[in-house]
Amino acid sequence: MRILFVSSEVFPFSKTGGLADVSGALPKSLVDLGSEILVITPWYRTLQATPPPLWIGDVEVPFDGDFESVGVGTLERDGVRYAFVGHPDYQREELYGYPDDVRRFARFTRSAPQIAARLGFKPDIVHVNDWHSAYLPLVLTHGWHLPKGFAGLPSILTIHNVQYQGSSGIEEVLYWLRLPGAFRHSYLNHFGAANALQAGLGFANRVTTVSPSYAQEITLPEYGYGLDGTLRHIAHKLFGILNGLDTEVWNPQKDPYLVSSYCCNHLEGKVVAKKHLCDKLQLDSDRPLLAVVSRLVEQKGIDLFLAASDELILKGWSLALLGSGDKKLEVAAEQLAAKYPGRMTTYLGYDEPLAHQVYAGADALAIPSRFEPCGLNQMIAMRYGTLPIARATGGLKDTITHEQTGFLFDKASSKDFLETASYAKSLYGTPEWDRLVEHAMRQDFSWQVSAAAYHKLYSATIFPLP
Ligand code: ADP
Ligand code: GLC
Repeated sequence: MRILFVSSEVFPFSKTGGLADVSGALPKSLVDLGSEILVITPWYRTLQATPPPLWIGDVEVPFDGDFESVGVGTLERDGVRYAFVGHPDYQREELYGYPDDVRRFARFTRSAPQIAARLGFKPDIVHVNDWHSAYLPLVLTHGWHLPKGFAGLPSILTIHNVQYQGSSGIEEVLYWLRLPGAFRHSYLNHFGAANALQAGLGFANRVTTVSPSYAQEITLPEYGYGLDGTLRHIAHKLFGILNGLDTEVWNPQKDPYLVSSYCCNHLEGKVVAKKHLCDKLQLDSDRPLLAVVSRLVEQKGIDLFLAASDELILKGWSLALLGSGDKKLEVAAEQLAAKYPGRMTTYLGYDEPLAHQVYAGADALAIPSRFEPCGLNQMIAMRYGTLPIARATGGLKDTITHEQTGFLFDKASSKDFLETASYAKSLYGTPEWDRLVEHAMRQDFSWQVSAAAYHKLYSATIFPLP
């Protein structure tokens, strides 16, 4: 099977969150199942690739009512082919966060068929991810100047987060993608604005999301961010497939960022990792350490963690927070750390090596998310013998077993989080804690099962039953 996989971020080339982890790992597992795969992603200014992609030239892309050139670079790794889309639009400081983001990624999306054709790659199916590439199913159905063999290709959209939808003016989108006026009244239109994610929901042959629980939750107003009605309408083609972990990247037995390796039978290395981390963060290593590694946004319930921090420290936890995002949360986290030298450290920014060291060195990871489509955080933590204390929602609920591999609480409130964290603290240092750590570390979060589920879904989409 030949799969064209389109994503706005792909580890290790670019990353702001779990989308990159998934786009880095799933294609490799699909290759292991015998597929051929071409991954298309932007060539960001910050691209992490040594050696860099091989520049193969320009490709003409129909966009903005005309043709525009984008540059293409390619490289191959672990049997996966990657194509990077070069354009001044992607040569900015950050990956996202600009007023013209929808236009930037509409161009990216529109370039995918042209680039695949240029590389001689004729897919059987196209897999797009989140709003950034969600216009592609619509383009494949009704786009102009599609290369031969691309019109009408079956497509799958994976929703990694329904909160981000790619909203813009309808007339602009019709112009960029040169769509017939009748599309003003299609799935493109969400209460008078163009909505990239909704267009994907409508025009993709199948829609998946990254955990079974989240697939249910997003059909409810509480979690659907205004798309719950559309999601209920397309529920017959909506599936939940749990993410896996790249167990090569996340492996405490051979993690290049750790000073000591360890496994569930030999945890001495974890003790060394904790000492190293605490020295680095100037924390007292004799106390239990509760950490956060996260984008600092409302979704993640970081405010609930911060509201509970005084009490957590009083109860005996030391705290470490690694993250960046919302300025208010950043300031509040820094103020708290200043109040508790030796007991709380805040490290603002994105730091891949430090993230690995925190997962290894902490005793527990706080994940008080308001919603969580899947969450990789908790799976990484468990693999590193660090017990998640998480809200029972979405993928957290699907991957953590309360009092077996971590701790779950129901309500998104700092009170419930605090109660559960206090209970967890009462077990720290007992044989029960050690049992949970061992059990958590023995969980299998590899991609094998999930990649096979995607493979099955691709087949069912390409060859639907009559
Ligand atoms: P989301 O994609 O919603 O941010 P996930 O749990 O799926 O949440 O994935 C987050 C990924 O990003 C994990 O690999 C996590 O380690 C990483 N991450 C988040 N914040 C940081 C940070 N500040 N520094 C390094 N890695 C981070
Ligand atoms: C999104 C979600 C997160 C999920 C990730 C990868 O960023 O917020 O829960 O794990 O995508 O699918």
